[in-house]
Amino acid sequence: MGIKFLVNVLLIIHGVFRLKTAILYYSRTGNTELLVKLLVGALSKQGVAVDVFKVKPLKDYSPPLHLNPRLVFDTLVRKGTSVKLEPADFNPLEYNVIVVASPIWIGNLSPPIQQVLRDYAGKLKNYIILTTSGLKTKSESLSRKTESILREKPVFCLNITVPEIRNEALLTSIIQNLASRILSYLMAKQ
Ligand SMILES: Cc1cc2nc3c(=O)[nH]c(=O)nc-3n(C[C@H](O)[C@H](O)[C@H](O)COP(=O)(O)O)c2cc1C
Repeated sequence: MGIKFLVNVLLIIHGVFRLKTAILYYSRTGNTELLVKLLVGALSKQGVAVDVFKVKPLKDYSPPLHLNPRLVFDTLVRKGTSVKLEPADFNPLEYNVIVVASPIWIGNLSPPIQQVLRDYAGKLKNYIILTTSGLKTKSESLSRKTESILREKPVFCLNITVPEIRNEALLTSIIQNLASRILSYLMAKQ
């Protein structure tokens, strides 16, 4: 009984180590990047292997961002922009779960992330959408938007507001919960 239990625990731990997570993100003013860094730390502590890919527009948006016509056009009309990934060798098939993180711009995902979703449509299966925004943004509407691009429902969407990011204690608990949700999802997939 004791040995069987120990073997099972070891098998689960071994399985979680084998399961790979990727995080793809764009961040213009640093909020989303901060979340990504904290999430990587929280997942790594739990033994989850994480590869991070930064989505870089070939030409980033210059301030004042709210008055940048190319930003507005790319967000609402073009629904994307030319991007590269750093590092470049992202293969979605290598990952058990993929977190896609973006700021919200004018109620939408940022153009670099809209572009990545479109580029990998049909290949991103188990994905989670993580967004940051000034005001509360409804997860259901983000879920519908991403599903319309990828033809696949996200595992879940989570939006974190700037006031939540500024509250260190609250942010720590949000990140812990998020890492636990991802870990439970990975364990259920074994
Ligand atoms: C051009 C622009 C448009 C924005 N639009 C929204 C919006 O529609 N709703 C919202 O709640 N926050 C909006 N924000 C606030 C950002 O979503 C928020 O600051 C986010 O955390 C920025 O992420 P980043 O620091 O990773 O770039 C906007 C910010 C900018 C610069």
